[in-house]
Amino acid sequence: MRIDKLLANLGYGSRKEVKRLLKSGAVKIDGETVKDAKEHVDPKINQVTVHGETVEYKEFIYLMMNKPQGVLSATEDAYQETVLDLLELEDAIYKPFPVGRLDKDTEGLLLLTNDGQLAHRLLSPKKHVPKTYFAIIDGEVTEEDVEAFRKGVTLDDGYLTKPGELKILKSGIRSDIELTITEGKFHQVKRMFEAVGKRVVYLKRNSMGPLRLDEDLELGEYRELTDEEIESLQN
Ligand code: URA
Repeated sequence: MRIDKLLANLGYGSRKEVKRLLKSGAVKIDGETVKDAKEHVDPKINQVTVHGETVEYKEFIYLMMNKPQGVLSATEDAYQETVLDLLELEDAIYKPFPVGRLDKDTEGLLLLTNDGQLAHRLLSPKKHVPKTYFAIIDGEVTEEDVEAFRKGVTLDDGYLTKPGELKILKSGIRSDIELTITEGKFHQVKRMFEAVGKRVVYLKRNSMGPLRLDEDLELGEYRELTDEEIESLQN
């Protein structure tokens, strides 16, 4: 990769600003000052420094966010705040994107990465990656609902869902439940409850495949995945 492209990608300025930086003699590759913007560098092999500071390079970034309500799972929006607006610049420069969507009013586990292959695999309908949600339901969730979800329910557009595993945590005029589904249709959890005449009033995702939401993350906070977590997603 060209040195000017690498440095621009890493947030050292526009290509023009990076050119100026190179001209000033601030950039070294393996200890040699480099002034030519066209110079090629392999960031995995070569050591690049700017003003003597080593440039940290990684190809992929994997972030676990506890998404708060009121924020869009999108990369950009003209009017509303997106999950990318919650990232520090040092993470945003890797241009991660959310893997799948949570509704604006849904909280919980959201994975952000720039690893397109991994995102594709996690989202592929063929992979049946399980996702577990905690929800508060307006209405009494019953064993009949558990049975209906086990068989799959018909959504408002006529689609019959795959089986969902519904657990009643607390039943009453408001019920607490946990639901595991292996698909990701638009508003799926809300529409599955609508199919049995009930309304979701609070929704939070707790897990996606092997990844569990880190309970130490406050709403709006995020952290990088551990190596073990990344590995678990790649299997
Ligand atoms: N199902 C929904 O209805 N909303 C979400 O955000 C996720 C799953």
